[in-house]
Amino acid sequence: DESISTYVLTDDTIREILPIRHFKGHKGTHGKGILVAGSKGMSGAAVLAGRGALRSGIGLLQIVTPQGIAKDVDASITEATVWPAPGEDSLNEESWEVIARQAEKAQALAIGPGLAQNPGFGLVLEEILRTISCPVVLDADALNLLAGESSLIEARNGRGPLILTPHPGEMARLCQCTVADVESNRLDLALTKAAEWEAVVVLKGSVTIVASPDGRAFFNPSGNPGLGTGGTGDVLTGSILAWLAQGVSPLEAACLGAYLHGKAADDLAEEYGWSGFLASEVADRLPKVRRSLE
Ligand code: APR
Ligand code: MG
Repeated sequence: DESISTYVLTDDTIREILPIRHFKGHKGTHGKGILVAGSKGMSGAAVLAGRGALRSGIGLLQIVTPQGIAKDVDASITEATVWPAPGEDSLNEESWEVIARQAEKAQALAIGPGLAQNPGFGLVLEEILRTISCPVVLDADALNLLAGESSLIEARNGRGPLILTPHPGEMARLCQCTVADVESNRLDLALTKAAEWEAVVVLKGSVTIVASPDGRAFFNPSGNPGLGTGGTGDVLTGSILAWLAQGVSPLEAACLGAYLHGKAADDLAEEYGWSGFLASEVADRLPKVRRSLE
């Protein structure tokens, strides 16, 4: 297709989209983001995504999490505010009000890390897509909840920007195909679905592809197999949330998030090689790699 153009992300392209911090900037100008994440046994996913957001410079982070684990999340992430929402083990259909109230004052929303798949939350997700106008990032179980009915993505219908961050398994469920189908056709599939869903699609993998609905696709060369460990995807979601909250456009926030995340892992690999570093360490290394580009 002639309308398709591909690019490889580089230090130079990323440097250009890094937002400038103003001397008089404060937490209000650095943006407020809402993270809807966590469930019983997966509170760590909320904490790691939160850490990714804070280490990417978000001004204010609010985590909406099921009331049954809110204390644990709160204790593990001092710098965020935590809003317990209805649902003991996982968020249920009554969690909508808490989310809607927080989202009113936010610049961006991310949903999904460690969320679990309470069917009742599917309705909330649809309501979020339909009504919330700030950029929304969908990851992990938010994608899995849509998998049976990916036409629900159309509920967004131009209401506001949408970013999806599937790994190949999540992409296969969304597209009702096999992982092998996804992996043998990554670029085409990411671009086709980005256009169909009118969303930025971040198809993760050893070379993550950021696909735009306008036909542009960006390959991310950073990162290494050390990222193949639980929780690193959650850190990426939080980081993209933070760039959005700081006013970066959806496409650029996805590119910035993916590139710096991989670069943080590459910096860790200088010390540890391609295994044994932690998702939380990837988050904690983000400021250093961001600074190296300034
Ligand atoms: N090279 C470069 N990057 C890699 C490599 C590699 N070899 N392997 C993995 N990555 C990167 C991916 O590009 C992505 O950014 O690591 C991240 C992994 O993200 P996920 O697959 O979403 O893993 P994670 O979320 O941490 O897994 C925890 O969440 O999404 C669910 O089903 C998932 O249960 C799992 C849980
Ligand atoms: Mg994941």
